[in-house]
Amino acid sequence: MVYSRITGTGSYLPARVVTNKDLEKTLDTTDAWIRERTGIKRRHIAAEGETSADMGLCAARKAIEMADIDVAEIDLIVVATSTPDKVFPSTACIMQRQLGIHGSPAFDIQAACSGFIYVLDIANRLIQTGGAKTALVVGSETMSRIVNWQDRGTAVLFGDGAGAVILQACEEPGILSTHIHSDGQYENLLEVPQGISSGFDTVRDGGAYIRMNGNAVFRKAVAMLGSAAKEILSKNGIDKSEVDWMVPHQANLRIITAAAKKLDLPMERVVVTVDEQANTSSASIPLALDTAVRDGRIMSGHLLLFGAFGAGFTWGSALVRY
Ligand code: UT7
Repeated sequence: MVYSRITGTGSYLPARVVTNKDLEKTLDTTDAWIRERTGIKRRHIAAEGETSADMGLCAARKAIEMADIDVAEIDLIVVATSTPDKVFPSTACIMQRQLGIHGSPAFDIQAACSGFIYVLDIANRLIQTGGAKTALVVGSETMSRIVNWQDRGTAVLFGDGAGAVILQACEEPGILSTHIHSDGQYENLLEVPQGISSGFDTVRDGGAYIRMNGNAVFRKAVAMLGSAAKEILSKNGIDKSEVDWMVPHQANLRIITAAAKKLDLPMERVVVTVDEQANTSSASIPLALDTAVRDGRIMSGHLLLFGAFGAGFTWGSALVRY
């Protein structure tokens, strides 16, 4: 039996930091409101011309270095992004060119904030069925380009960044299981209501920016994160007390705290980066993972629980022996 395991992690955050105080100057909001309702203190914002592929590449190089592999060993690239550089080619193909790799499959997946769980699921299955041996799995987002900076209800919530892992074939299970779900009936609760096919318009629906019914999304997010975690633990016959670290999608500290409470998991065993990075969508889980790996909290042998939810709605979970 072939399994896959994470052998390297990497992440990247743009240099420019925008604090809540900075946002107070242009929006009818306060640092106190943002901290209290979301836990967010600051976010990183991509420089002009800095793209999802550029950030993904920086994260990928760090993951490749940690895995101690030659770039030529990578035989699969999957990138989760809702903010690709171009309509085509895919961000994964652009990164493939930047890395100097030729011939291996490279493609993007769009599953909004759950994107990283989706690409992890796909890469793991391809490795298990012999389609690849060494996969570069990335989440990278320039959310700042689809944020309406005049809308206080969403502008305070998002940030830019990228995270990556190297997933390699092995004899012992690293990825224990992954579960992905969607339900399109919630389309209107969280969306960028324009696109290539429906057309772009600066007036219709307020432009091509994130539009969200925050409170409805909040309630669904807590329920979905909780149910996804319970589903994966029961399918693997693992008790919640065995989980060393929960690495959840980072949208709002209150959502994370509520989901941890449902699992009776103390916050000391939950990786939180939303305070420093805000919601980086599909990049948030690999960014949080890399942060906790590099500061020494996550160690070899630890059992990790990933959980995410996002527009669609999409949601999912992964159980990983690091
Ligand atoms: O990755 C998935 C994507 N998104 C999420 O997961 C986000 C999920 N939702 C949330 O995180 C929360 O719903 C928010 C942080 C967006 C909002 O928190 P809330 O506790 O649900 O507040 P609310 O939407 O019910 O709004 C409460 C009040 C409203 O004023 P009124 O109507 O009570 O007078 C808002 O207009 O807070 C107001 N408000 C703000 N005030 C100051 C909304 N945004 C702001 C703001 N600053 N930035």
